[in-house]
Amino acid sequence: MATATITEIGASCKLFLKGEDVKYGDFRDDLIRDGFAVVKGAIPRDRADKYVDQMYTWLEDFGLGFKRDDPSTVRNEHMPIISEKGMCAGYGLPHEKFTWDIRCEPGVVGAFEKVYETSDLIVSFDAVNFTFPNRTDLKPNSPWPHQDQDPEKSGFRCLQGLVNLLPNGPEDGGLIVCKGAHQASQEFHRLFKNEPDRIKTWTKEWYGFTKTGLKWLDDNGFKWEKVCAEPGDLILWDSRTPHYNLSPSGQTPRFAAYTCYLPVAEVSQEDLLRKKKAFESMDNPYCICSSQFTDSLLLDCQSTTHWPNAVQDITMPLLRDGVEDPLNFRVPKSGPPQLSERGYKLTGIPYIKSA
Ligand SMILES: [Fe+2]
Repeated sequence: MATATITEIGASCKLFLKGEDVKYGDFRDDLIRDGFAVVKGAIPRDRADKYVDQMYTWLEDFGLGFKRDDPSTVRNEHMPIISEKGMCAGYGLPHEKFTWDIRCEPGVVGAFEKVYETSDLIVSFDAVNFTFPNRTDLKPNSPWPHQDQDPEKSGFRCLQGLVNLLPNGPEDGGLIVCKGAHQASQEFHRLFKNEPDRIKTWTKEWYGFTKTGLKWLDDNGFKWEKVCAEPGDLILWDSRTPHYNLSPSGQTPRFAAYTCYLPVAEVSQEDLLRKKKAFESMDNPYCICSSQFTDSLLLDCQSTTHWPNAVQDITMPLLRDGVEDPLNFRVPKSGPPQLSERGYKLTGIPYIKSA
C-alpha cells in the first residue's frame, strides 16, 4: 500500500482550544464541560451482544475450564491472568478479531473523528476488561485516583475511551471520574509541583493523587461520579480528568474494550515505526516477555497502553504461580489480524514514509 496522505491539523482544530462558547449539540459539549462523556449507542445493541458472546467464547476456549454459566470457574486457575482491575492485555488479546472489530466500529472511531476533526487517526493496541463480581482469588481492587498525563504538560492532549459491552449501572463497577476537574488541572499542578509524598510511577505520563490532592479537589467542589452505560455505549474522558475503576458490587460482570485514537499529524515517524514493530511482533509466537521483570520492560511488545503512539512500549509479565504464564503466546487465537483498509490505516503503518 502506498504511503497514506495525512491531512494536517492545526492547533485551532483541537476541541478544547476553540473555547467553551462553541457549542456542538452533542457529546462534545459534555466532554468540554465535564471532562467526560457517554456516546450512546456507538455500537448497535445486537453487535455489542455478539462481542460479549465472542469474549465469553474466548475465555471458554482458553482451555482451563472456564464456563460462562458456572461461577465456580471464575478463578485464576480456569482463566487467563486478569488483574484485580479487570485488565487483560496478554495472549494476543489486543489483536483478536473481536478487539479489532470493536476498534473499527464506525460509531466508535467516528466519535474520535468528530473530536479531532480528521479521519487520519491511529489507535492503541490496548487491553480488554473482564471484571467478574465476588472474586475472592484476587487482591482487592483499591481505588487509585489518577490522571493519565504528564503533570508538567498542561492542556488537552489525549482523549481516552472505552466501549462498554454489558449493562453497567451504579452497582456494576467501572469508571469513576472527578467531574469537571480537568479544567483545574493546570492550577492543581502549579500548587502541587513540589509535593513531598508524590506517588512513584514508571512513566511520566501518569499522576497519582495523594490524600492531600484528593482533599484539594474536594475543597474546591469537585465531586466523584460513577459513569453508567448501556451495552454499546462509548465512554470518553480527557486524560486530565481524575479517574479510576471499581469492581462490581452486584452480580453483573463488567466487559469493556479500551479504545483510544490520536491524529496521525500529532505523532512522529519514530512513533509510527515503533507501532509497526509492535504490530508485526506477532509473527513470532515465541517472542514472549522474559520472566525477568527488568528485561521485560525493555522488549518490543505487541500491545500498548492507551497511548496510540506507543510512547509506553512495555508489557508487564503475566505471572501464573510466580512465573511467566506459559500460555501467554502472542498470536491471537483468531490468528494474525486480517484488517480492513480502515483497520490497517489505524495501525499507523500506511503513514510511514519510505526512506
Ligand atoms: Fe487511567
